[in-house]
Amino acid sequence: LPLLAGMVLLLSACGRADLSTLRPQGPVAEEQFGLMKLTITIMVIVILIVFVIAGYVIIRFRRRPGDKTIPVQVEGNHKLEIIWTVIPIVLLIIIGIPTVNTVFGLAKDHTKDPNALQVKVTAHQYWWEFEYPNLGVKTAQELLVPNDVIISVEAKTADVLHSFWVPSLFGKIDTNPGGNVNTMYFEAPKTGVYLGKCAELCGPSHSLMDFKVKVVDRASFDRWVAAMKNPVAPPQDQEVADLLNKQCLSCHAIGSNGAAFPNLMGIGSRQTVAGILVNTDQPKYENEGSVEQNLEKWIADPQAVKPGTLMPKVDLTQDQVKAIAEYLAGLKLDY
Ligand code: CUA
Repeated sequence: LPLLAGMVLLLSACGRADLSTLRPQGPVAEEQFGLMKLTITIMVIVILIVFVIAGYVIIRFRRRPGDKTIPVQVEGNHKLEIIWTVIPIVLLIIIGIPTVNTVFGLAKDHTKDPNALQVKVTAHQYWWEFEYPNLGVKTAQELLVPNDVIISVEAKTADVLHSFWVPSLFGKIDTNPGGNVNTMYFEAPKTGVYLGKCAELCGPSHSLMDFKVKVVDRASFDRWVAAMKNPVAPPQDQEVADLLNKQCLSCHAIGSNGAAFPNLMGIGSRQTVAGILVNTDQPKYENEGSVEQNLEKWIADPQAVKPGTLMPKVDLTQDQVKAIAEYLAGLKLDY
């Protein structure tokens, strides 16, 4: 029982609203939570019965002072053996049928479903790329989705093994090296922001490989898609424009043109920089600051923020870092 109480306590301690499988925010997560409830209930009942019987036997048949006799030696009991074989079989069937049903149900392929929003997820050390193949839009770190459709995901990796996971919306799906593509789907009927995590150890910054799923209504989503395709004015200062071209846009993209590295379009409206520096006007912790401060911190020394990141520390003066950060922070999207 103390063990059980400890488990419950531990589980509820993980109850941060946006990172809890115990507070599902969509039908896929709800079904998975249903399985958890079923198995945990059965396990708790089994544990209670076993503990009560064990406790009774320990007390009732303990050696009493002065008792030197040897207890009755039992060599086997067919009736008991059948009972303790059949009961687990029945329990496994009770757990197994809904589990298989749910697993196969949630594996339904929506990649050809014209009513579903198609999203291609590519994991990189240590960031997430999101492509909407039918909309001609690519973004990073924040997956924006409408709340009124099924979102069909094709997940792959550009390098090592990662796992795509938004605890309150859906279970983990691995992204496997070797060209393997895994598919899944989810629905997010409630607008809001849901925290996602890489759930497979993938290198020194694995624990920093966070992302967000931002759920908005249909009108906002359409505005966002349009805004993502709007051309962006380059920095007014020619020196900054040249720097940006040379130092940033050799890898990054701004806008709908494809690039191997994170698209910076709208980075000024994101909730984080590099997925881990929280953009806020009221910083409380070390990893928090304004968009501009976070961009400065990130550009000035990427390795200090995310060890092992492929983003190099480029040769820039403090003023140049400031100027680029200021320009990027101004890349905001209205939607
Ligand atoms: Cu990517 Cu852990």
